[in-house]
Amino acid sequence: MNERLEGFIKPGTEEESLVKQLDFSSLPRHIAVIMDGNGRWAKKRRLPRIEGHRAGSESVREVVETCGRVGIKFLTLYAFSKENWKRPKKEVATLWRLLEDYLKREDKVLVENKFRLKIIGQRDPIPASVRRELERVEELTRNNDRLTIVLALNYGGRTEIVDAVKRILKDKGFEHDGLDEEKFSSFLYTSDIPDPDLLIRTSGELRVSNFLLWQIAYSEIWITKELWPDFRKKHLLQALVDYQKRERRFGDIYPHKERN
Ligand code: FPP
Repeated sequence: MNERLEGFIKPGTEEESLVKQLDFSSLPRHIAVIMDGNGRWAKKRRLPRIEGHRAGSESVREVVETCGRVGIKFLTLYAFSKENWKRPKKEVATLWRLLEDYLKREDKVLVENKFRLKIIGQRDPIPASVRRELERVEELTRNNDRLTIVLALNYGGRTEIVDAVKRILKDKGFEHDGLDEEKFSSFLYTSDIPDPDLLIRTSGELRVSNFLLWQIAYSEIWITKELWPDFRKKHLLQALVDYQKRERRFGDIYPHKERN
């Protein structure tokens, strides 16, 4: 077993048998996750929705740790969409507070493990104290490259595309004849990040919810009925095992490891 997994994966467990099935030479480079179902998890327990988000932040911790230990290079988490502002004020405030607390608590873990934090989305509407904290941790971890954790905050896929077009239009020296897919990608928030190979969604919904619309063109999609607060390392390992059984053809008739 990969030495980083020793002690983390207990012998004789379902996790261990999943790890044994993994081919560490062909892991997805980038996993993107739509963390859904916190509210339903809380409702099932007759708890306030906020408790679902609190429990969901524990799943975030476990998924980050698992990705780091397995050797995933990029993990993008859809933590707050542009549409999430429509929720009750108290819920919105708690979500931002949870994130702020998480950063204050976990910053050392990120540094020690050489994890980088990167934010995508429109920053201006994010409460100032949270934004400061986000920017502090982004700066602190800027040169780390073991695992990049991309947090999508106040993020919308269509807005990202419109923002890219606006940036192109503002770029006076831009040669329009040279515009192609690769060039366009370089104007997106994710310009320095490869496209996700695997998109995970929890809580069984069959939607992409305005998430990374451009970048998921060829991603493998894996959906589980588990609600986000119940999502544990065994689910992530199962997603990886299933991903490795898929044949990625990128429109060709033959399988490819990566898009050309
Ligand atoms: C969806 O559940 C989840 C969210 C809108 C936010 C995810 C946030 C966290 C896990 C909290 C902390 C985040 C970090 C990065 C520390 P939902 O409320 O839409 O659930 P429902 O569909 O059942 O109502």
